[in-house]
Amino acid sequence: MEMQNRRVVAIDTGQFRKALGRFATGVTVVTAVSPEGTMIGLTVNSFNSVSMDPPLILWSVGRNSRRGQDLMRAKGFAVNVLAGNQLDIANRFSRWLETPFDGVDYRLTANGLPVLDRAVAHFECEHHAQHDGGDHVILIGRVLDYSLGDGSALVYAGGRFTALDVHSRPNVPD
Ligand SMILES: Cc1cc2nc3c(=O)[nH]c(=O)nc-3n(C[C@H](O)[C@H](O)[C@H](O)COP(=O)(O)O)c2cc1C
Repeated sequence: MEMQNRRVVAIDTGQFRKALGRFATGVTVVTAVSPEGTMIGLTVNSFNSVSMDPPLILWSVGRNSRRGQDLMRAKGFAVNVLAGNQLDIANRFSRWLETPFDGVDYRLTANGLPVLDRAVAHFECEHHAQHDGGDHVILIGRVLDYSLGDGSALVYAGGRFTALDVHSRPNVPD
């Protein structure tokens, strides 16, 4: 439905990016093995929950991301939620490296997905749907397996990283 009295402003990309950055997020590394057998890892903060039944999550990948294209072609992917002390991992997987997993502690799961040690949670997914998201593609994954760890979470806001200790609990049931 068309919005009444619609007023569209010109988007200044830098300011728009800054405004979006006001929204604080966690930080994840999405990992997979490409169809050619290459291990892939990409730092991602667009992750979010979608559905409990069936268990679905989402994240969006830039159409121009080299590793993103491999991730879209991979059989499945794992989303690793980084701990507060994994800033080096976030930085490592935000750029392209010849051997990205060198010196990184990980294991291959029964689903054949690389999962990072010491992540505070991970979600192993098969592809459920892909939707157009402009210059990104929205990937919806169906969760096949997951783990729940302990510790503070790495947080990204205003273009900076910080660690957040989870002390207070929202007023929602478990
Ligand atoms: C905190 C942070 C969050 C990011 N989130 C995303 C994201 O949600 N989706 C995405 O495609 N790239 C994201 N990126 C950028 C990717 O990590 C990567 O640098 C970019 O996609 C280029 O990939 P390429 O080197 O394979 O071409 C993020 C980077 C940082 C530092």
